[in-house]
Amino acid sequence: TDKPLADLPLAGRRAIVTSGPTREPIDPVRYIANRSSGKQGHAVAAALARAGAETVLVSGPTGEPDPPGVAIVRVETAREMLAACEQAMPADIVVCAAAVVDWRPADAAPAKLKKNGPAPPLLLVENPDILATLSSGPGRPALIVGFAAETNDVVAYAQAKLKKKNCDWILANDVSPASGTFGGEHNTVHLVSADGVEDWPRLTKREVAERLAARVVDHFATGNR
Ligand code: CTP
Ligand code: CA
Repeated sequence: TDKPLADLPLAGRRAIVTSGPTREPIDPVRYIANRSSGKQGHAVAAALARAGAETVLVSGPTGEPDPPGVAIVRVETAREMLAACEQAMPADIVVCAAAVVDWRPADAAPAKLKKNGPAPPLLLVENPDILATLSSGPGRPALIVGFAAETNDVVAYAQAKLKKKNCDWILANDVSPASGTFGGEHNTVHLVSADGVEDWPRLTKREVAERLAARVVDHFATGNR
């Protein structure tokens, strides 16, 4: 807190980070979600804040403590997450680490569904893509980073996502059950950008966050605005 300004290389920059899962209601008591602990996203928000960025963390439900020095906005659904990000704009840096549920029930039932009769069909519709939306709108942040959770062909899928979502970097990680990524303390990622692929060693999620923040600092220090 009493660090001199020279230690805050991202001072004056605004960052938005998404984290955690989303929850998409089926009825008032049931929902669809996914396996995301929020550890990586929360660590990224904390690291950017430590580097001096004014950081807004938009998070789905997690068991993680609020990172210090970060403004936190809690949401449940993908649509709420997008609205909260749009509200937090403008930003210089966006990191989308949330595991957004890709499809939501088309019509959430207003009252609890009862177990009489046949199982209800679950009709799903696609959620908005937060990363793609923020990357394509007016006032696009200067640096947009996504994660790509894959179980196979990790780098190839990440390269395709980089183009499709118009983002600058993708941190691609292997989330196959053998990797232990979900809920674990470690992450093995590849930084995929237009410049190529950088393989990072197996690191703690906090170390991944620190390394990413350091790369963000470098990016802006080397003349990028
Ligand atoms: N993402 C997002 N909004 C969504 C879906 C994904 O912001 N509705 C972001 C994630 O936070 C991540 C990146 O997009 O930074 C890639 O997410 P991922 O689930 O790997 O990719 P998808 O495009 O959803 O493709 P798929 O799940 O089919 O692999
Ligand atoms: Ca997805």
